[in-house]
Amino acid sequence: MQNFKFYAILHYMTSTEIRKKFLDFFAKRGHAIIPSASLVPENDPSVLFNTAGMQPLVPYLMGAKHPMGTRIADVQKCVRTGDLDDIGDNRHFSFFEMMGNWSLGDYFKEDAIKWSYEFLTSKEEGLGLDANRLAVTIFEGDESAPLDEESKNIWMSLGIPEHRIYALPAEDNFWSPGDNGPCGPCSEMFYDMEEMFVGKVLSKDEFVEQVKTENFIEIWNDVFMEFEKKDGKVVGKLAQKNVDTGAGLERITAVMQGKKTAYETDLFKDLLYEIKISCQIREDRMQRIIADHIRTSIFLMADGVLPSSNGRGYILRRLLRRSIRCGHAVQMTPDYKSLVNIVENTYKDIYSNISENKEKIVSELEKEYNKFIKTLSNGLKEFEKVVEIKVKHNGIVESQGASMLSEDVFKLVTSFGFPLELVNELAKEKNISFDEEEVNALLLEHKELSQSASAGMFKGGLANTNEQTIKLHTAHHLVLAALQEVLGKSVKQKGSNITEERMRIDFAFDRKVTDEEKKKVEDLVNGWVNAGLPVIRREMPKAEAEALGAEMEFGAKYPDVVSVYTIQDPTDAYVSKEFCGGPHVTNTADIGHVTIGKEEAVAQGVRRLKATLG
Ligand code: ALA
Repeated sequence: MQNFKFYAILHYMTSTEIRKKFLDFFAKRGHAIIPSASLVPENDPSVLFNTAGMQPLVPYLMGAKHPMGTRIADVQKCVRTGDLDDIGDNRHFSFFEMMGNWSLGDYFKEDAIKWSYEFLTSKEEGLGLDANRLAVTIFEGDESAPLDEESKNIWMSLGIPEHRIYALPAEDNFWSPGDNGPCGPCSEMFYDMEEMFVGKVLSKDEFVEQVKTENFIEIWNDVFMEFEKKDGKVVGKLAQKNVDTGAGLERITAVMQGKKTAYETDLFKDLLYEIKISCQIREDRMQRIIADHIRTSIFLMADGVLPSSNGRGYILRRLLRRSIRCGHAVQMTPDYKSLVNIVENTYKDIYSNISENKEKIVSELEKEYNKFIKTLSNGLKEFEKVVEIKVKHNGIVESQGASMLSEDVFKLVTSFGFPLELVNELAKEKNISFDEEEVNALLLEHKELSQSASAGMFKGGLANTNEQTIKLHTAHHLVLAALQEVLGKSVKQKGSNITEERMRIDFAFDRKVTDEEKKKVEDLVNGWVNAGLPVIRREMPKAEAEALGAEMEFGAKYPDVVSVYTIQDPTDAYVSKEFCGGPHVTNTADIGHVTIGKEEAVAQGVRRLKATLG
C-alpha cells in the first residue's frame, strides 16, 4: 500500500564525536573510562592480538577485582586476521575499534539492553538513530542455556516489536572469545540500511539473508557473560554475572555518516584518496584492501610489532605483502611517508604512538616493500609461465576465463613453494579457475605417498610414524635450525632419536646451553610453528642438494637422488633445509607447540637436547 519511503534524517557525526558521545554516555552512568590497551596482549600468550574489547579484561570477568571498579567503558583497538578474504567488502576490517561497556558482576541484562537502546536512539545523549530501523537478535537456547526470554521481554518493553526480535542459534548468539574463557548468550543489534522494514515484516530466514547482503548491518553486541568455556565446551557458571558489549566504531561511523561502508567515512577517506592517486589502475576492492592492510600495519608497528618470519611479526608481514601484491596489481607507486602522515593525522587526537614512532614505521614499510617486490615479481613470472603452458596446452589464446590444470597448480605449490592461498588469489584476479578439490586431493595423495615412501627410508632414529612422531620430526628440523640461529652455524647434528613422547637431538657444541639460549630456541621454534609455514619435499640429485647447503647428518650415507625437506619463510628465505626422507607434517602449524626440555653433555663436544609437544 505504501508507495513512499520514509527517510530518517541522520545527525551527521564525525568518528571523534561518536567516540566521545559513547564514553560520555557511559561515564554518566557510573562507568570508569579506561584507555585502549595495546594491540599486543600483555599477559595472554594464547592470543596474538587483542581481537575484542573484552580481551584485556578477561581476568576481571573471571572474578579478579578491577582497580577502577565494577563498571568500565573504553574504545579498544582490535586486530582480527582470521578471515582476510572478507576484507575489501563493506564491513570487514583487519583493524577496528570496538566501543564497549562492561559490568564486572554489577548490572546485567536489564540495564545493558536499556542503555544500548538509549545510546542508539537518544537524540540528546546518543546517536539519535531511528528506532524503527533497529532489529535485534537473541539466543534461541541449547543444552548450555535456555532461550533468552528475559532479553526478549526487555527489548519489547523498550518498544521493539516482537517480529523484529529474532532468536538465533549458538553460532550466532552465544559469544565466547575462543575455546576457553568467559562466555554467554548475546543479543545483537542491527541497523536497517536499506529500509527493508518499511511496510514489511521479515521472516527469520529473510532477515538472515538480508544481513548477508549487507542490507542490515550489525552495530552492537551485548554479551551476558555468566558461563565459562573449556576446550570448546561450556563447563559451568562463573562466580559473577558480567556484561561485555562491543560496538564497532567503523560500522557506526558509516551509519552516522550515511554511508554503506566505513571506507567512505572520515576514518578512511583521506587514506583511500592517497592510495587511489598513486595507482595507475582503478580497482575499488584492491584499493580498499591496501587501505585496510596499511592502516592495520601502521597500528601494529605503533604498538611495537615489527615484520618478521614468526608470530605477530609474520602476521604483519603477511598483511604488508598482501598490500604490496594488491598494489602491484593496480600499478601503485606507494609513498609510505604520505600514507603514514594521513593515518597519523586521522588519529592524532586519539593515539599518540603513531607520531612517536613515525620514522621507524615509514622505514620499516619501505624496507619490507623493497624486500618483497622482487620476490613477488619472480614468483609472478613462474605463475605466468604455468598459465602460459596451460594456454598452449589447451590451445586457448587468452587466459581470461580459462582454467588452470590441477597438475600445474600442484606444481606451483609443491615445487615453487607458493602457498595455495596465493595461487588462489592470483588465479581469482586473472579470472582463471582451477579445481580446488582436485588440487587438494593431489596434495593429500602427495603427502601420503611421501610419508609412506619415506617411512622406511628414514634412518635417523624415527621409532614409528604415528601422528605425534611425525610432528616431532618436523619440530626436530625446526629445533636444529633454531639452535644454529641462536648458537651459530657451527652447530651440526650428530644424531637424533624420535619417539611418540619426545624428540632428541645430539649436536656438536662445546659448552652448556644456557637457560636463556634454550628459551630463545623455544621462542624461535614456536614462532615458526605459529607462522604456519609450508613444509615442502623435493627430490633432487645429491650434488644439487649439497649445493643448496641442505643439512646432512655427519657420517651418514646418501643415495644419488635424495629427498630434501625445506621450510621457507614468506620472503622465501630458508628456515630449514635438510636431507631427509620424511615423513613430515605439511605445515609447521600442524605441530602445535614445542617445549624445549633437558640439555646435557653426551660426549666431549657433543650436547643432547630434548623437546616435547604441548
Ligand atoms: N565481545 C563481544 C564481541 O566481540 C562484545 O562481539
